[in-house]
Amino acid sequence: MTKKRGTKYVVKKGSAYWPNKEMKAIANMTDPKIYTKAAKDPVKFWEELAKVGLTWESLWSPKNGYVEKLPYFEWFKGGKINFSVNCIDRHLDRGDQTALIWVPEPTNEDVIKLTYAELYDKVNRFANVLKENEIKKGDVVSIYLPMIPEALIAMLACTRIGAIHSVVFSAFSADALNARIKDGKAKILITSDGYYRKGKPEPLLDKAKKAAKKTTIKKIIVVDRIGKKVRGSMFLDFHTELELAESYCKPEVMNSEDIMFILYTSGTTGKPKGVMHDTGGYAIQAYQTCKWNFDLHKEDIMWCTADIGWITGHTYAFYGPLLVGATTLIYEGGPNYPNPGRWWKIIEDHKVNVFYTAPTAIRMFIKTPQSWIKKHDLSTLKILGTVGEPIDKESWLWYFNSIGGGRCPIIDTWWQTETGGTLINTLPGIGPFVPTVSGKSFPGLKHVIVDDKGKEMPKGKKGLLAGVSPFAPGMLHGVFNNHKKYVDTYWKKFKTMYDTSDGAYLSNGLFRITGRTDDVMKVAGHRLSTAEVEDAFHDNSLISEVAVVPMPDKLKGQVPIAFIVLKKGSPSKKLESKLRKYIDIKIGPTARPKRIYFVNDLPKTRSGKIMRRILKALLINEEPKGLMTLINPESVDKIKEVILSNEK
Ligand code: WT7
Repeated sequence: MTKKRGTKYVVKKGSAYWPNKEMKAIANMTDPKIYTKAAKDPVKFWEELAKVGLTWESLWSPKNGYVEKLPYFEWFKGGKINFSVNCIDRHLDRGDQTALIWVPEPTNEDVIKLTYAELYDKVNRFANVLKENEIKKGDVVSIYLPMIPEALIAMLACTRIGAIHSVVFSAFSADALNARIKDGKAKILITSDGYYRKGKPEPLLDKAKKAAKKTTIKKIIVVDRIGKKVRGSMFLDFHTELELAESYCKPEVMNSEDIMFILYTSGTTGKPKGVMHDTGGYAIQAYQTCKWNFDLHKEDIMWCTADIGWITGHTYAFYGPLLVGATTLIYEGGPNYPNPGRWWKIIEDHKVNVFYTAPTAIRMFIKTPQSWIKKHDLSTLKILGTVGEPIDKESWLWYFNSIGGGRCPIIDTWWQTETGGTLINTLPGIGPFVPTVSGKSFPGLKHVIVDDKGKEMPKGKKGLLAGVSPFAPGMLHGVFNNHKKYVDTYWKKFKTMYDTSDGAYLSNGLFRITGRTDDVMKVAGHRLSTAEVEDAFHDNSLISEVAVVPMPDKLKGQVPIAFIVLKKGSPSKKLESKLRKYIDIKIGPTARPKRIYFVNDLPKTRSGKIMRRILKALLINEEPKGLMTLINPESVDKIKEVILSNEK
């Protein structure tokens, strides 16, 4: 396969783009019949992919390729596998290849590159560190780390010994971390003293320490990133321990169905759910989607800008590229540091081939002076990906032209924390690439658009997106310690179909996703529940009632807005900023409401339910419907006045 700089990979036909012969010549998948072929026997299809794509200790018995007893289902049952072997050991014949490129934020620090052989050594050693600290197969390990190589080492080390990792986003608060540690009953917390953000060291350890109080955590393993002294018998230094440890750790043979990790995500209630992912099913989905969606080859360099605190970071910044045996690039810091050219300089410096980011970032760069982008050579790029929220046409075209130089397909991947890997998108060797449209279900998967009752909608009509059996191998295997939540969230509505909570419609047979239909917000691509923010406010004694709703935002897609009824005190700018800071402490800055409106009353039904729908309408200046059902319709005009007077 040859990759020439600046190759044009697409041609325009009508309003869509298609792969041209240059793309087809290199693409891992070019057969448009793959969809119908896979649909004939999807289980067999995935079994074949898993046999060829992964390295197994032993295979599952042929009748256990897929076992479904809803709401649970199992893949490759009885198959034995170790995840770290698939990410590292099996690539050691090319041990000198770079597995990871780490770009620190400070420009005077060196980039770190780890070859597969070096990564192997570190992961083995750290796996032994975990074992010495009494971590066994099935134990939960909490990881609260920024985008540094140690995050990858720690996570892979967990998978080597069969410990379950639970990564918590480093920008989340101590309270958020505390709740997640408690839920998982983790014995060990791996964190760092801090990280660099916008040119400054950002401390992390104090939050970690606070979070570990009154929990099951016995030891905190700390990466020295910003040179803070750490003292106390509870703390271990990451690198000292690593160097002292034995250099080989035998990989634990795991069942394909064993839980590999938990990742907490927001639902419609205040408490985040621990989404559980298995080992073999997750692995094949991560591997295959990297190969086919991003046309990832061993010699490719992929940069997924997502933080490891989110599923996209797990699957496409870390695991997917390693499963394929390619090189992954991660960057520690802010996209604008020291200037808005940073990301594009990284692409140029490291010759990135596959770039995967979120619409929020794209919208931000549309607004920056374009010279920051133009001065960098982006001709090594082959494929561009987008994820996390619907992408508007303007952003799509800008991404296509300004970053892709009009040469690269845009792969608009729809998926969720729950699905482990992408489920709906166009494949680069097949096409078409249509602005704002995601594409088809990945071969071997099926989705439908239905009404509330699960009845299929007429073609082209908007409805709810649902997954159909057999469910994707990478999909969640339950909610940690909470069967009821699992059933209620995903299986209650349709019983035999997976409820995605997204709205969608078909446009020429391709899925266009319109966004969440529940009380989940996507703020700068980050998932947050309105209830979570409301619960945080409720801890404050000044507040009597609160409703949080998303408002459309040009940059972030959506931003949270809070409507608050005070118990005591009077509204003021000072109080508003105090309350916003309060959310930073309780959840993290992502959840900080853009605006707080102090009102006397919230619109409610006779049964006392707050009508958030009405607040949403008022925020976008629409006439709210269904006021007859309210017990206090007069509240609506008053709220309107408050919103208007704040705009002045
Ligand atoms: C929600 C899941 C999965 C990786 C990151 C987000 C929205 C995701 C798209 C897309 C339109 C999208 C959906 C989904 N979403 N990708 N390509 N087009 N919307 O994971 O935080 O679990 O959020 O993100 O609303 O339900 P997540």
